[in-house]
This record gives sequence, structure tokens and C-alpha cells, in this order.
Amino acid sequence: MDDDDGLEALAREMDEAVAASDSLAGLEAVRIAALGRKGRLTALMRELGSVEAEARKRRGTALNRIKTRLGEAIAAREATLRGAAIDARLGLETLDLTLPARPTPEGRIHPVSQVSDEIIAIFADMGFDVVEGPDIEDDFHNFTALNIPPEHPARQMHDTFYLSGPEDSRPLLRTHTSPVQIRAMRESPPPHRLIAPGRTYRRDSDQTHTPMFHQVEGLVVDRATHMGHLKGCLEDFARTVFEVEDLRMRFRPSYFPFTEPSAEMDIGCSRSGGELVIGEGADWLEILGCGMVHPRVLEAVDIDPDQYQGFAFGLGIDRVAMLKYGMPDLRAFFESDVRWLSHYGFSALDVPGLARGLW
Ligand code: DAH
Repeated sequence: MDDDDGLEALAREMDEAVAASDSLAGLEAVRIAALGRKGRLTALMRELGSVEAEARKRRGTALNRIKTRLGEAIAAREATLRGAAIDARLGLETLDLTLPARPTPEGRIHPVSQVSDEIIAIFADMGFDVVEGPDIEDDFHNFTALNIPPEHPARQMHDTFYLSGPEDSRPLLRTHTSPVQIRAMRESPPPHRLIAPGRTYRRDSDQTHTPMFHQVEGLVVDRATHMGHLKGCLEDFARTVFEVEDLRMRFRPSYFPFTEPSAEMDIGCSRSGGELVIGEGADWLEILGCGMVHPRVLEAVDIDPDQYQGFAFGLGIDRVAMLKYGMPDLRAFFESDVRWLSHYGFSALDVPGLARGLW
């Protein structure tokens, strides 16, 4: 073989092989055939040692040029093939962002959360603020300021959980959400229009009672608030939350230390055939307690009862959930059984709102 003859032809042949390879694996085979340990260019380089000095220099330069050019051609071809592979993959793996979001089948919203959100949506729509208070309370907020003095029999009715502490100021788990009324009225001057949802605690456990349960407190205080406002507000609320337009309702005189007069509100239902249907039939079902805020409660928070008056109400969230969604046993609410939750729970996308009905 003379000095460069054959080299040009070889170079062209390898260029063509690079250009013709249509996969990364094919390209790698071409590289190995030329530049691998047993490759043709490698062999020619190795033979240089036996070539006479003058010719070796020329031939070495030529071989190196071919080697460099070939390396560049392989790199360029590789980039092209990789780009094509990515394009092909992108063409196959499409993600249509216009598809409607679908909730995952796992993960359900607990009925208590759902009903709380429904109740909050209704009162927020009427202009109520949502406030919270602590679960651990003191005697003043839970009882005394609510016109339940130390020897009052209502204290026994509440079956209070006491925490350890000095005998005369033992902290307790709040037995109702009413103490949040006291905190809100002490925090800012009237008018007030708020609800306070949250956990409450009593030593009690059966099918319709659990030691921890949930209430929503409501409070409206202004200069001219009267019983008609209470009635209108709560009737509107009940119709909306139970989604029965012509719901029958009645207010029955009752007694609470913190309201005067006090009432309980019942809604119409039927229990025929052992099945409870809300809004039909001749039976009644109690759903909440309410009344006009007692003047002594206003005095306890330094509001002048001659200038201001208001109404308050308290309602069991769990009870509304049981009635509305037909869940017979309250204890199951707190057993963390995923089978119960997947049956009674709600989709994360069922966000309650009044614009489209409750959800
Ligand atoms: N705190 C009462 C209870 O737990 C419920 C209640 C009744 C709250 C009447 C009120 C009310 O604000 O006016 O049984």
C-alpha cells in the first residue's frame, strides 16, 4: 500500500457507514469497527511502527486527521440520533392538559369535615366570621361567664373532663363551643356576627354520643338584634343545610343558663318503617339549641345589656352529618376504619359552596 492511497477510500467508506447508521447501536458498531481495539484505523496506526521514518510522519498525520474527522462525524451523528429518539418518545407520550382533573380513588374527606365546610359555607354567605377557641378551657369561659355559677346543676349535666391542676383552677376540656362566645366578646367590641366550629368533650359514650364530638356555636350581637333575626337566620340555615326547600320547623321553649328566652329548634321528619326521612311526615327531630343572649352573659364581658342584645345558638355537627347522610352510629366516625370512610367519605373535589347547591 503506498503512503496515502487507500486511506482516502477508507475514510470515505467510514464516513458513509456513519451517515448510514440509523440507530445508536449501529453507530457504536461502526465506531468499534474503525476505532476499537481490533478496528481498521487502530490496526493501521499500529502498523506505523514498521514504516520508514519519512513516510511514517506523513502517514501518521493523515491517519490522525482521519481519526479526528471520524470522531467528529460519530459525535454529530450520535447527537442527531439522540434528538430523533427523544422526538419519537415525545410523540408517543402525550399528556392532554385539557382533560378534566379526576380525583384519585384513595383519600376521602371525612363526613365531619364535609358537614363543617357545608355549615361554614352557609353562614359565611350570610356574613358571619369564622373564629376558633382553645379545646382546653378554664372554668370562667366554659361555665361562670356563661351564667353557670359553681353550684349550678348544669355543671353536672356536662360531665366534664378535668385535667390536673390546682383544685380551684383546674383546666378542663371544653364541654361546648359556647366559651368561644365569651372569648370573642372580650376580644373586640360589638357588633358581633360569628360562628365557632370545633371539638367538644363530655364523659359519655353510646350509639349517639362519643367522648369527643363537634359543635358549631353562633353569636350575633348588635343594638337592635331580636328574636325575629334568630328565627329567620336559623330557618334559612336549616333549609339550606338539609336541602329541603319546604322544610317544616318549629321553635320549642327550652332552658339554657346563657340565653333568655331559650328555645330548641325541631325539624319535621318521618320515622315510618324504621327509616328516617327529613322534611316529611308528622314527627319532629331536635337539631339545635338557641336563644337571646342572657343579660348576665353580656355583663360578664362588659357589654351594656341596655345598649346591646343578641342571639346565640349551638348545634352538633356530627348529629347533622348522621341525619343528613343516614349514618346510624356515631362511634364509627372515630374508629378510623378505611372501609367506613370509603363508603361514607366525600371526594376531595366535592367542595361545598352555595353557588351550585351545597356541593
Ligand atoms: N352550649 C349548648 C350545649 O352544648 C348549646 C347551645 C344552646 C348553645 C343554646 C347556645 C345556645 O349558644 O344559645 O348544649
